[in-house]
Amino acid sequence: MRKESRTPRAVWLSIVLMAMSCVGLAGLSLYAISIYETMAQAPAFAWVAAALGLFVMALGTGLLLHAIRQMQRSSDARQRSEEEFHLLVAGVTDYAIYMLDPGGRVTTWNAGAERIKGYSAAEIVGQHFSLFFTPEDRAAGVPVRALETAAREGRYEAEAERVRKDGTRFWANVVLNPLRDPAGRLRGYAKVTRDISERVRRQLALEQTQAALAQSQKMEGLGQLTGGIAHDFNNLLTVIRGSIDMVERRLRAGDKDITRFIEAARRGADRAANLTKSLLAFARRQPLEPKPLEPNRLVAGMAELLRRTLGEGISIETVLAGGLWWVAADPNQLENAILNVAINARDAMPGGGKLTIETSNSHLDEAYENEGVTPGQYVLIAVSDNGGGMSAAVLSKVFEPFYTTKAEGTGLGLSQVYGFVKQSNGHVKIYSEPGTGTTVKIYLPRLEAPAAAEIARTARAVPKGSKQETILVVEDDEDVRGFAIDILAELGYRVLGAADARSALAGLEKEPAVDLLFTDVVLPDGVNGRQLANEVLRLRPEIKVLFTTGYARNAIVHHGRLDPGVELIVKPYTQPDLARRIRKVLDSA
Ligand SMILES: Nc1ncnc2c1ncn2[C@@H]1O[C@H](COP(=O)(O)OP(=O)(O)OP(=O)(O)O)[C@@H](O)[C@H]1O
Ligand SMILES: [Mg+2]
Repeated sequence: MRKESRTPRAVWLSIVLMAMSCVGLAGLSLYAISIYETMAQAPAFAWVAAALGLFVMALGTGLLLHAIRQMQRSSDARQRSEEEFHLLVAGVTDYAIYMLDPGGRVTTWNAGAERIKGYSAAEIVGQHFSLFFTPEDRAAGVPVRALETAAREGRYEAEAERVRKDGTRFWANVVLNPLRDPAGRLRGYAKVTRDISERVRRQLALEQTQAALAQSQKMEGLGQLTGGIAHDFNNLLTVIRGSIDMVERRLRAGDKDITRFIEAARRGADRAANLTKSLLAFARRQPLEPKPLEPNRLVAGMAELLRRTLGEGISIETVLAGGLWWVAADPNQLENAILNVAINARDAMPGGGKLTIETSNSHLDEAYENEGVTPGQYVLIAVSDNGGGMSAAVLSKVFEPFYTTKAEGTGLGLSQVYGFVKQSNGHVKIYSEPGTGTTVKIYLPRLEAPAAAEIARTARAVPKGSKQETILVVEDDEDVRGFAIDILAELGYRVLGAADARSALAGLEKEPAVDLLFTDVVLPDGVNGRQLANEVLRLRPEIKVLFTTGYARNAIVHHGRLDPGVELIVKPYTQPDLARRIRKVLDSA
């Protein structure tokens, strides 16, 4: 740029010099002739002036020649560079590089464009570039928008499908830049297109592989889960079924000594109930009864239980923080979770060791958000052992139901802990080092204002009923209804039974003295326990209601929490459980 502007200035200078010297020389000659008639008679100064004039003229000529040569040279260089640039663009075969006029018609075409799109320059120059778009994109106005965006924002870039001359499609990365003259007028567009089909194909293949892997891992997990359930239930059913058969055989043979088999059947049923409870816990669908509680008091209250469970070889240390916040959690389930973790610690220290339970206030920040944790204040209960620890491979699976490395393990311990903590809106994390030990950290959300500072202690004794208290049992399963009626009658209550909502309401009409409705949540014929209770309360507001269910996800339980004022007992229940709950509901205001 600078060279170009200097050259004409040098030319002008030399022309001015030459013109001045010509004028000077001519003037001098005329002056000399007018005075002396011939130059020969002129004095020396005239000769000097003439010589000076000639010199200046020669200098001007020299400068002019030099400037012209310079211009020639720079124009040659420019031409050469332009040719090379043209060759470069034309020769690039990996990129389609071409230009469009302001209306979007192709004005130049390189080898890359021909290779990628299939058109020769002769075929395409003059055609509109929307030819390269898919019919869908053309119909949606994408080509026009691309030009508008490039003109407005100085650039348009996209990764999309484009169409070749033969109609086949390919994935392209396209960049469109507007070309403007020094006055800012739009002169056209430069377009660069790259064929990225291979990259897109590789990416798709990778995504497919990852999806297939995730699917197969999911199937493996499901297989393990269903296999585990089937295996455990089969064992339990064998025990129960076998015991019943034994009872039958003995009775038929006139042998009355059947207590042992009834006990075995009951143990089998209890274990089956525990199994479903564990599964519901993992599925985060066990009905929880969160209560305000002080974790320090709960942990301190477990000392004796832990000592008994862990045995002599393991020393227990508790480090309980002062000023610890309250939490809202189901105390029984929390104790159960701590116990589960402590038993795992015991199993990891067969030769004895040390179990440490620490509590502290803790703040989980945004860094935990990708683990599904709401940032905020939590109470941390950390249980550590100095046992064998876990490898990374084991650690990655410990929360899976039925995953166990123990010969006698069910693999349900930690999956229950996980389900319970998550259902309580908390977080659980395990740190483990093979050969060093393990720490299980349970975080429970801080309870800001404990609604009730005192935790109600449930009475240990089984409260009885009286014949003046009438309970209406609504349950569609005949065996379960019979069982409930039997144990309530045994407790001293007057008991009525109904198999569905309709017969329950009919029964109620005839019975003025019903005090409590004890109903299953799931009932046949389209009226559930909740609706039945609403109807009963509309007719007889003084009647108390206790619900029961085997499954948490229904009309009563939302996200595992009971609606306020709703009383629920979970199946399977025992006689003392039911006795306490019935008494509590009857005695409530
Ligand atoms: N503190 C620990 N130290 C080392 N390994 C542990 C610890 N806690 C758990 N594990 C590993 O995690 C596995 C799963 O634990 P989980 O409590 O779910 O089931 P389990 O203990 O094997 O069976 P169960 O709880 O019925 O006895 C264990 O088998 C063990 O390999
Ligand atoms: Mg365990």
